[in-house]
Amino acid sequence: MRLSLLGALGAGLLAAAQSTFKPARPPSIPLAVKSPYLSTWFAVGSQGGNGGYLPGQWPSFYTGQTIGWTGLIRVDGNTFTWMGAPRDVEAASQVAFEYTSTKSIFTIEVDDKVSVKVTFLSPLTPEDFKRQSLVSSYLNVEVSSLDGADHNVQLYTDISAEWVSGDNNAVAQWDFGEVDGISYHKVWKQNQQLFSEVNDRAEWGNIYYATDADGLTYQSGSDVDVRGAFTSNGKLTNTKDTNFRIIQDNWPVFGYAVDLGTVGSSVKETLFTIGLYQDQAIQFLGANGQTILPSLWASYFSDELAALSFFYQDYSESNSISSALDSKIASDSKNVAGDNYAVLTSLAARQAFGAVQLVGTQDKHYLFLKEISSNGNTQTIDVIYPATPIFYYTNPELVKLLMDPHFENQESGHYPNKWAIHDLGTHYPNATGHADGNDEHMPIEECGNNLIMLLAYAQRSGNTDYLKQHYAILKQWADFLVQDSLYPANQLSTDDFAGHLENQTNLALKGMIGIEAMSQIAKLVGQDDDAKNFTDIAHDYITQWQTLGFNAAEGHASLTYNNASTHGLLYNLYNDKLLKTDLVPQAVYDVQSDFYRSVMETYGVPLDTRNRWYTKSDWEVFCAAVADTETRDLLLGAIVKWVNDTPIGTPFTDLYQTNDATYPPGLEFKARPVMGGMFALLIL
Ligand SMILES: *[C@@H]1O[C@H](CO)[C@@H](O)[C@H](O)[C@H]1NC(C)=O
Ligand SMILES: *[C@@H]1O[C@H](CO)[C@@H](O)[C@H](O)[C@H]1NC(C)=O
Ligand SMILES: *[C@@H]1O[C@H](CO)[C@@H](O)[C@H](O)[C@H]1NC(C)=O
Ligand SMILES: *[C@@H]1O[C@H](CO)[C@@H](O)[C@H](O)[C@H]1NC(C)=O
Repeated sequence: MRLSLLGALGAGLLAAAQSTFKPARPPSIPLAVKSPYLSTWFAVGSQGGNGGYLPGQWPSFYTGQTIGWTGLIRVDGNTFTWMGAPRDVEAASQVAFEYTSTKSIFTIEVDDKVSVKVTFLSPLTPEDFKRQSLVSSYLNVEVSSLDGADHNVQLYTDISAEWVSGDNNAVAQWDFGEVDGISYHKVWKQNQQLFSEVNDRAEWGNIYYATDADGLTYQSGSDVDVRGAFTSNGKLTNTKDTNFRIIQDNWPVFGYAVDLGTVGSSVKETLFTIGLYQDQAIQFLGANGQTILPSLWASYFSDELAALSFFYQDYSESNSISSALDSKIASDSKNVAGDNYAVLTSLAARQAFGAVQLVGTQDKHYLFLKEISSNGNTQTIDVIYPATPIFYYTNPELVKLLMDPHFENQESGHYPNKWAIHDLGTHYPNATGHADGNDEHMPIEECGNNLIMLLAYAQRSGNTDYLKQHYAILKQWADFLVQDSLYPANQLSTDDFAGHLENQTNLALKGMIGIEAMSQIAKLVGQDDDAKNFTDIAHDYITQWQTLGFNAAEGHASLTYNNASTHGLLYNLYNDKLLKTDLVPQAVYDVQSDFYRSVMETYGVPLDTRNRWYTKSDWEVFCAAVADTETRDLLLGAIVKWVNDTPIGTPFTDLYQTNDATYPPGLEFKARPVMGGMFALLIL
C-alpha cells in the first residue's frame, strides 16, 4: 500500500481517491494477454509504473514499450480519462482494483457523478481449443450513476497504430467495416514481414478492435483530432483517414464513441474486443521437413471476420467458463495453502498461457511456446518444464502438445546429439531446430525434464500409448543419464545465468529421478527387464548421492559434491513427489525444510551460494511444495510480500533479489511462462 501511494505521487498523479488492490498489488497488471504477440499490460511498480492507476498512464507491451489504448468519458459535457494518458484531459479517480486468474477489474469514479467498472477479460478455456485458439481479449465497460442523479453520458475508446509493430517508424494501414452488426477497426503493418519481430513484437498479422454498441460513431485520424472531436461534441465523424503513414506521424488512432444517453442507477454496459489475427503462426522442422503451421483458429473459422464475430458474440459463454476457472483456482489454492497462495496462482495464470499459442489444424495441432525475455527461444524444454504445473492442473493434454514438436524433430533425425535438445529454435516463431547440434547444451537438465514430464503426463492422462510410441528415444535419454548423472560433467543447469559447474548436487538429483521415471515408464509399457535395470541403477545412485551431495554435519545439501561451504535450493526434490517415485528418503526433505528457514531473507531464500541475493520464485515454490508447513508458508509468504512490495514495473518475474525485491543487475526476466510453476502445490 505504501509503495503504491508513492508510485502515484512519483508520477505526479495525486488522485483524490486512493485505490484498493486485491488480492494483492501486482508489479504489472495483465490487460490483454493471450499469446506472445498479444501481451498488453499496465505497469504498477515504481520502476516504470504509476502504482496501478488506469487513468493517467499508457498500457505497455511486456517489454515496457508503450501501446496506445485510451478510455474517455463525457459526463454532463465534461470529459475525463479512465484509461491511458491523453493530453489535456483530467484523470478520473480509481478507487478499487481486483484481479482473478482471467480478469483485471478497475473501479473508477468520475467527477463524483458516475462509476465506471472496467473489466479486462483474457479468457482461459484450456479444455476448449476452439475458444483457446483465438488470440483475442475482451474489454467490458459498465457505467452507472454514483450520486443517484441522472447524467448525460458518452463513452469513448481508441487504439493507436502502436499495436501493429515494434517500430514506430513503420507505416501502418487501416480500414473500418462491419460484420454481423459488429463494427471493427482493422489495423496492420503495411509491409507485412512474416515470422519477423522488432523488439519482440510481431511484424505481421491484423489487429481488430470491435464493438456492437448502440449509438455508435467511429473515426480514424490523428490522436488530437479524434479525441478532440469526442471532447468537443461527444461523438465522432464516421470518417476514415486515408493518409496511411508511420505510426508516430500525427499518431493515427482508431476511435469509437458511444452515446449512452441518460445514465441513472441501472448499469449500462458496452463490450469491446481486441484481437490479433495471423493466418500463419510458426515455421517448424518436424516429421515432414520444414513446414509452415497456421494459427489453430484458422481451422475452426472460414476467415478472420468469422472468428471475430464468434469471439464477440461469445462473451457470455467465454466469461462463464473463465469465471468457473477463476473460482476453481482461487478455492483450490486457498484449500491447499491459504489465501497467500491464491495471490500467486491467480497472478500467474494469464502470464503462463500468454506465452503459448495453439497452432496447426484440428487433426494435428501443437502448443508452441516462447521463452520470453531471458531470450526468444522457441519451445525451450527447461522453460516448458517449470511451467507444466499449470498445464497438468488445467489440461494435461497441453503438455503432450508442447512435447509433440520435440519428438517429431528429434525422432526424424534433425538433432545429432545423444542427449535431449534444449529448444527448437533460436528465435520464436521459428522452430527450425538445431540440425548442427549447436543449441545451448543442458544435457542432464533436458533429458531429466523430458523423462519426468512424460511420466507425469502419462500418470495424469492414462495415455501409455504415448510412452510406447516414444520409447526408443526416452530410453536413449535415460541411458545418457545413467552415464552422466552420478558424477555430472561440467555443464549448465537451467539456471544458466549462474554458469557452468561440475558435480552439481541438484542436477544429479534430477538425473537420478529421471532414471527412476524411466523405470516406471518401462513398467507401464511392459518392458519389465528395463524397469528392473533402471530402478536398480537409480537406487544405487541415490544412495551414493546422499554421501556425495549431502553434508550431515552442516545440515544441508551442498551446491556441488563434497563442498560443505556451498548450498542452494534443492528444487529437483519436487519431482520425486510429483511422480510418487519415492526415491529419496524423507530425512532429506526434513533437513532441507529446516535449512531453508535458517537462510531465509526478507523476500525468500537465495538460489545458491554463487550469488548472495538472487533467487528464482518458480524454484522456491517447488521447494515449498515439498517442505513442511512452516517452511512452505514462509516461502509463499515471502513471494507474496515480493509481489506487493517490488519496485519492478514489468510482469511477474521469476528472478529477483531477496534483499530488496529488485532485478539482479542486468538480468531482467519478465513475463516468462515459468510462472506456471506457481501451480506446483495444486498437482501433488
Ligand atoms: C524467422 O526466420 C525467417 C527466415 O525464414 C527470418 O526472416 C525471420 O527474421 C526469423 N524470425 C525471427 C524472429 O528471428
Ligand atoms: C542397464 O542399463 C544400462 C544403461 O542403459 C546398460 O548399460 C546395461 O547394459 C543395462 N543392463 C541390463 C542388464 O539390461
Ligand atoms: C566430482 O566428484 C568426484 C567424486 O567425489 C571427484 O572425484 C571429482 O574430483 C569432482 N570434481 C570436481 C571438479 O570437484
Ligand atoms: C567449494 O566451493 C567454493 C565455491 O564454489 C569454491 O570456491 C571452493 O574451491 C570449493 N571447494 C572445494 C574443496 O572444491
